Amino acid sequence: MIRHVPHPTLGGRSLLSLMNHPAEAVRHLLDLADSLKTDPEWPKALAGRSVALVFDQPSTRTRVSFEVGITRLGGHPVVLAGRDMQLGRGETIEDTAKVLSRFVDAIVIRTVDHATVAALAGHADVPVINALTHDHHPCQGLADVMTIREHFGEVAGLRAAYVGDGNNCCHSLMVAGALMGMEVVAGCPEGYLPDPPVVERADEIARAHGGSVAVVTDPREAVDGARAVYTDVWVSMGDEGEEAERLRTFSPYRVDEALMAAAAPDAIALHPLPAHDGLEITRAVYHGPRSAVWDEAENRLYVQAALLMNILG
Ligand code: CP
Repeated sequence: MIRHVPHPTLGGRSLLSLMNHPAEAVRHLLDLADSLKTDPEWPKALAGRSVALVFDQPSTRTRVSFEVGITRLGGHPVVLAGRDMQLGRGETIEDTAKVLSRFVDAIVIRTVDHATVAALAGHADVPVINALTHDHHPCQGLADVMTIREHFGEVAGLRAAYVGDGNNCCHSLMVAGALMGMEVVAGCPEGYLPDPPVVERADEIARAHGGSVAVVTDPREAVDGARAVYTDVWVSMGDEGEEAERLRTFSPYRVDEALMAAAAPDAIALHPLPAHDGLEITRAVYHGPRSAVWDEAENRLYVQAALLMNILG
């Protein structure tokens, strides 16, 4: 049985990104997630609590893992599609935040515009969790470092490479890795580099914990010595209008067996999924012996349950 012990928490705080949360709280959250993974007897930590899950964009992993996790913790998930809410007919974010706060104990939201989630958190009286915006995917970043930790044990100083579009998953891996003191290198083409303010903040966090963050444009340079090689879709939700140009630009950044061979001999391959065979990754890699993508997907359940236990106490 998992027990509550005094620990640093994110208690009562929203999670819009990982950039302003203490490393000790994140480390504790990952320890709790590890415990949830091995202990079939979950505490009913959310008994009598309701959590709104607002999805403005499609989702398989995030929606199912939140819904199952809340239920296993004894809580009640309220799943809402943005288009079915009055939000879709023009009710403001401010009014939606105030009303939902009267009914539920936390709000999980997926939408494209990060400012929308920030506004929701600004007006809500309950914590808000970002379930993916164009800028950050913190729940994914937590599952990524949990997966790297479970494969290698202590991860401080471990080199992880992100290859491809410098997008929300790149940002969240950088920040999550920085909090763990990892050496995170992003290999992205010019024009698709991660946002400089995020890189600067991640590097500041990394250096405070003995790690580093770097950005290069050569995918082979990025994966050199890396023990985790991570990629994500080349055309994220909201970027569909740029598809043809993106496919041309990103083709040298495909994670295939040749690129994996340029990484450390024990390197694992990561991808948040859904994957596109032959584009950002090949099936031989993500269905192959070095793939950790299924563990990575499963770990969403544990990090998000730990997050809700942590935030809602
Ligand atoms: N990785 C991820 O967020 O998956 P979904 O889009 O299916 O939720």
